Amino acid sequence: MTNSHSDALVFFGATGDLAYKKIFPALQAMVKRGQLNVPVIGVAKAGWNLDRLRARARESLEKHGGVDAVSFDKLSSLLRYVDGDYQDAATFQALRKELRDAHNPNHYLAIPPVLFETVVEQLAKSNCAQGARVIVEKPFGHDLASARELNKVLLRFFDEADIFRIDHYLGKRPVNNMVAFRFANTFVEAFWNRTYIESVQITMAEDFGVQGRGAFYDQTGTIRDVVQNHLFQVLSNLAMQPPARLDSESVRDEKVKVLKAISPIEETNLVRGQFLGYRDEPGVAKDSKTETFAALKLEINSWLWKGVPFYIRAGKCLPVTSTEIVGKFRKPPALVPESTLTENHLRLRLSPEVTIAMGMMVLAPGEGMATQAIEMVASRSSAADGDAYERVLGAAMEGDATLFAREDYVEEAWRIVDPVLKMSTPVYQYQTNAWGPREVERVTPIGGWSNPTSYETSVATSGAAA
Ligand code: BG6
Repeated sequence: MTNSHSDALVFFGATGDLAYKKIFPALQAMVKRGQLNVPVIGVAKAGWNLDRLRARARESLEKHGGVDAVSFDKLSSLLRYVDGDYQDAATFQALRKELRDAHNPNHYLAIPPVLFETVVEQLAKSNCAQGARVIVEKPFGHDLASARELNKVLLRFFDEADIFRIDHYLGKRPVNNMVAFRFANTFVEAFWNRTYIESVQITMAEDFGVQGRGAFYDQTGTIRDVVQNHLFQVLSNLAMQPPARLDSESVRDEKVKVLKAISPIEETNLVRGQFLGYRDEPGVAKDSKTETFAALKLEINSWLWKGVPFYIRAGKCLPVTSTEIVGKFRKPPALVPESTLTENHLRLRLSPEVTIAMGMMVLAPGEGMATQAIEMVASRSSAADGDAYERVLGAAMEGDATLFAREDYVEEAWRIVDPVLKMSTPVYQYQTNAWGPREVERVTPIGGWSNPTSYETSVATSGAAA
């Protein structure tokens, strides 16, 4: 099935945490924008009924974003519910009945990946998979082998064009804006390449810990949780060539080319850290070797980027919450003493607010040739951007795959991190509220890491409105 709007949304895991935190708010927002006007069928095994599901939806919205009376009433009227075990054929017969005359449903698997195979098999047997799409949640696999296995299972029942692998970073407007910034501005093409850029660094900092997700996190770690997916998507947006056309496959072809040009990460180019106190979190092993921080260096052997190191750093319990990219320029053959020059840079801040800044040198006030570094900043609040989940679910309902990870992309991403994940490299401890362990020095760009400032400092210096 391609290019038509799905005529029902089925979401498995309707009573779960993800539905509570993300899905109900996204559904209400979609209704509000007029993007959702088809039956929405929750499926779970909880002994619930439709009224209970509606009450849960209300509770979820009270906690996350607020109830909008008109949209919520409309959403309530669209909601239906099927209770039952995913192993049981009767659950899926009940689902088929609830789908009534819908022939192009979209099945959203907001459930642990171990259940995917069972559910898609049952969907096929019950005639719920025909003409349907399927949306799957991250994590997509645990390593290369499991991702391949998962792809095989899904492709047995669905065409690739009908499979939507969620990476909610792709639903973030500031992440899409990186591509617009690069390809809607002629001047960017002139410098955003190996000739002018010396290094690129991407930081995803979070000032909180694992927030009750210890059991999940301990099996996952930073590289699997955010580097292999979210930050590789950011990297692809930074490094891809312009697509030949704007359709989803042309865009995704270019992204996968970026990953194909990256060799597996070497042990010496990775530093893993763990914040002090992590092992006391509920669900975390007392001798856990899972990383809550990672810094790594890689190279993209492409025409645009060969020879330019890309650094990625992500972690929990760091001093601020912000995702930011800094591209440092090569130094000019200076007329002033080189030691006094700071690199020019391009700074792209994706969150919490959106900033594009150029760092440059100018003459310092007064006389003489002394220079000083200044930043030219364009910044805006991202409050009006809408939620990433709303955007990705809306796109999946319309059959637009641009905001989803394709089979080959996911496998390439695993290929890059898989060998080093299996090496069990050391995990160094770090104090909460620090920028990772001391050992991060080993994987540090020339001139050092640029640490994002806090939101308050950033807003105060750039004058952006909250
Ligand atoms: C999730 C990770 O995918 O992304 C979390 O599992 C992380 O650990 C989160 O905190 C970050 O996303 P956002 O949209 O809150 O910045």
